[in-house]
Amino acid sequence: MKLTALFFTGSILLLMSPCIKWCGSSTPSPSPWPKQFHALLYMNMSGRFLKLSDFWYDWPKGRGVNIFQRQLGGILYDIEWDNGTTFYYTLDSNRYCRVMESEVGILRPDFLDGANYLGTQLTDGFLCHVWEKIDFIWYYEDVISRRPVRWDFYDGISSHVMTFEVGAVLPDFVTQAPEHCFNQESHRDTLELENHPPLYRLSPH
Ligand SMILES: *[C@@H]1O[C@H](CO)[C@@H](O)[C@H](O)[C@H]1NC(C)=O
Ligand SMILES: *[C@@H]1O[C@H](CO)[C@@H](O)[C@H](O)[C@H]1NC(C)=O
Repeated sequence: MKLTALFFTGSILLLMSPCIKWCGSSTPSPSPWPKQFHALLYMNMSGRFLKLSDFWYDWPKGRGVNIFQRQLGGILYDIEWDNGTTFYYTLDSNRYCRVMESEVGILRPDFLDGANYLGTQLTDGFLCHVWEKIDFIWYYEDVISRRPVRWDFYDGISSHVMTFEVGAVLPDFVTQAPEHCFNQESHRDTLELENHPPLYRLSPH
């Protein structure tokens, strides 16, 4: 009798054990981006070339800044404003500048809301929660620290987060587009624009 009862209780506990892990709380959600942060990103452009991005996200100031260093190449500034204007320029002798207008601004801190949870995966040596959103982005967040570790776009561009400094703010003067952006004589064709994927697809409608 007692053995049966023990066995019975044991079976119930075994049956319930997945609940201890999953049923108590719902599937994990990605942490929203901090309102201001600085990250150094190592980017693999689908195997075509590599670059670093000095990335400064600043939601209160309504701007996202990438300062790209292409491997053994030049530096390209990419200053995105929440009003939809983006300035791409170099400060070298090419004096390249291209100004683009889009209908949406920078990514919202909660742009990953509604992403599908895919479980955990070991990537770059970190155990991560993984989410996918609209077949556009795959996002890896460290299970323990909840910091982003990596994100991949549908076109194969992957970004690996090397540093992540919450609260760091880029001085305003760095984001001031140079004179040759406001000058028709600027040399516009000297640098191939390294477009990133159309992030507006992640914006709410
Ligand atoms: C870059 O990504 C490609 C796949 O897109 C991969 O084959 C290659 O090994 C990667 N290179 C580096 C240096 O990470
Ligand atoms: C958006 O804001 C930036 C920075 O203040 C400014 O340079 C740009 O002209 C603005 N764009 C529009 C369309 O107002």
